[in-house]
Amino acid sequence: MRNVCWTIPSIFYCLLFLQVSGFDCPYKECFCEGRTVFCVNRGFNATPEIVSSNTAGLTWLMFDTNNIKDIPAGHLPANLTEISFDYNPVESIDDNAFIGSADTLELLSFWGAKFSKLPDALTHLKALKYLSIYDSNVIDWNVNVMKEIGLTLESLFLRNAGVVLSPSWIQYLSGIQELNLESCLVTSLPDNSLDTADGNITIISLFNNSLTEVPKAISNLPALKKLNLGNNKISSITWLPRSQLTSLILDHNNISDGQFLSNVLRSSSDSLRTLTLQVNQLTAIPELDFLSNLKKVDLSYNRIADPNLGSFPVDMFEVNLEHNLLPFIPKALSNLTRLIELEMISNMVRQITAEDFPPGVIWVFLGHNLITELEDTTFPVNSTIQYLHLNNNPINHISNKAFHNFPKLTLVNLAETKITRLPLALASVSTLIVFDATNCTELVCTCEEKSLAPVLTPVLSGDVHGNCGDTSIYEFFANYSSAC
Ligand SMILES: *[C@@H]1O[C@H](CO)[C@@H](O)[C@H](O)[C@H]1NC(C)=O
Ligand SMILES: *[C@@H]1O[C@H](CO)[C@@H](O)[C@H](O)[C@H]1NC(C)=O
Ligand SMILES: *[C@@H]1O[C@H](CO)[C@@H](O)[C@H](O)[C@H]1NC(C)=O
Ligand SMILES: *[C@@H]1O[C@H](CO)[C@@H](O)[C@H](O)[C@H]1NC(C)=O
Ligand SMILES: *[C@@H]1O[C@H](CO)[C@@H](O)[C@H](O)[C@H]1NC(C)=O
Ligand SMILES: *[C@@H]1O[C@H](CO)[C@@H](O)[C@H](O)[C@H]1NC(C)=O
Ligand SMILES: *[C@@H]1O[C@H](CO)[C@@H](O)[C@H](O)[C@H]1NC(C)=O
Ligand SMILES: *[C@@H]1O[C@H](CO)[C@@H](O)[C@H](O)[C@H]1NC(C)=O
Repeated sequence: MRNVCWTIPSIFYCLLFLQVSGFDCPYKECFCEGRTVFCVNRGFNATPEIVSSNTAGLTWLMFDTNNIKDIPAGHLPANLTEISFDYNPVESIDDNAFIGSADTLELLSFWGAKFSKLPDALTHLKALKYLSIYDSNVIDWNVNVMKEIGLTLESLFLRNAGVVLSPSWIQYLSGIQELNLESCLVTSLPDNSLDTADGNITIISLFNNSLTEVPKAISNLPALKKLNLGNNKISSITWLPRSQLTSLILDHNNISDGQFLSNVLRSSSDSLRTLTLQVNQLTAIPELDFLSNLKKVDLSYNRIADPNLGSFPVDMFEVNLEHNLLPFIPKALSNLTRLIELEMISNMVRQITAEDFPPGVIWVFLGHNLITELEDTTFPVNSTIQYLHLNNNPINHISNKAFHNFPKLTLVNLAETKITRLPLALASVSTLIVFDATNCTELVCTCEEKSLAPVLTPVLSGDVHGNCGDTSIYEFFANYSSAC
């Protein structure tokens, strides 16, 4: 406190402050402000000596970003509520290191600690609510510690904290509300291990582990709201909880049974807001239309091949179907009035027809498909489409009326298609700003395309991409087509 005081110009303010708070900063190398002792990034190799124990009112101690290996007894002020040792290679902690705060300490955080056993010093903590350990290599999860802190612990965060495998000790976490075991190689949770805590648990994350099935232990947690099982190897979803979830994260797994998933989600019909399913093995879009609060879903990188199955809530505004095996734009999109992007890059779409488009779509991403022809009836009349990406399709025919009644079309991307002539259909597009025919190796420009000059010459040179033979398309219209 004094350190800060000398730097404040007004002595009056300072005296007032000292009088109100009335404590000393416990370490001469640190500074104190409000209720916090800041010892961040001071180059410490060890916890420094305490110079004053008159520290009442200072409750938060931050030792982040130092090089502290040992925490001996008698080096911390008393009655703290929060201590963080983030970014320190803490190896050993004296059993009595935290004893002065045994009844008050609520939060303890380590990032990059080097202890391989959960320190016994934690057994003394009678009020601990939040424990986090990140980027560590704990092997022994010390059941004695878990039995003691499990009575009060509300949130546990372990991320890349060491090997956890099948944590039997979670049975002791009877008041746990938020359980995060991420990147710890968890293979299973023992059955019934969460029964003592079931009414309190609202958040579980088992992100990035080695689960092959949804653990039965989580199947009956009535208060669960958020569940993250992303980045595992889950194929069996039998034990997904029938809770009122707000968020369910299942991406990067091996899930194929969309129908079962849809049945489980009935219990969350009014609550679910977040659902991620990308990078799985789904072969069809699940029935999701009853999820009244779901606005976005990511189904990219699955094996969805059936264009007729599945449904979405009508007011959905984002659906990602990239990298699937769909042969058509799926029926489930056709009545989504708020969907403005059609995200279907890298599918097997061979043919598109007007009725398939969501009615208000503005961005169309259909690159890397198998479309060969654009007909008079390919796009809806008076289409809302502004940005049309059809690059990397084997398109070789575009009818002269394909883009008629396209009042807002501003971008046409036909890069790396098989077109041999510039599409005369562009003549009816008065709003064009970007035209891309990069890498259309079979493209030639002839006098037949002269009628496109009024459309393409007003476009800025940098916004017409691609060549016909040795000349750029832009140059053709700027320098040559007038001579036709
Ligand atoms: C810590 O709290 C105890 C009990 O409330 C009290 O007796 C003691 O003076 C406090 N110590 C400090 C340094 O605040
Ligand atoms: C997943 O966990 C492993 C350790 O088990 C870690 O090396 C990897 O970076 C983690 N991946 C992500 C995406 O967090
Ligand atoms: C929830 O935790 C509190 C302690 O925080 C405990 O008293 C209560 O019994 C728990 N409720 C359930 C349903 O487990
Ligand atoms: C995915 O699940 C199937 C069973 O549905 C299984 O045969 C296959 O080995 C799993 N693949 C991986 C990579 O785990
Ligand atoms: C939208 O279409 C699906 C079939 O693809 C149908 O089940 C659903 O009832 C339709 N919703 C509305 C509001 O028309
Ligand atoms: C398209 O727009 C024109 C002019 O606004 C209108 O006359 C015509 O009825 C519309 N056609 C359809 C099918 O909506
Ligand atoms: C054109 O081809 C080159 C060489 O294959 C490639 O690097 C580039 O990404 C392609 N550009 C487009 C827009 O397809
Ligand atoms: C085409 O015209 C531009 C100016 O509009 C000029 O800079 C360019 O050299 C011409 N190219 C040829 C091949 O005549």
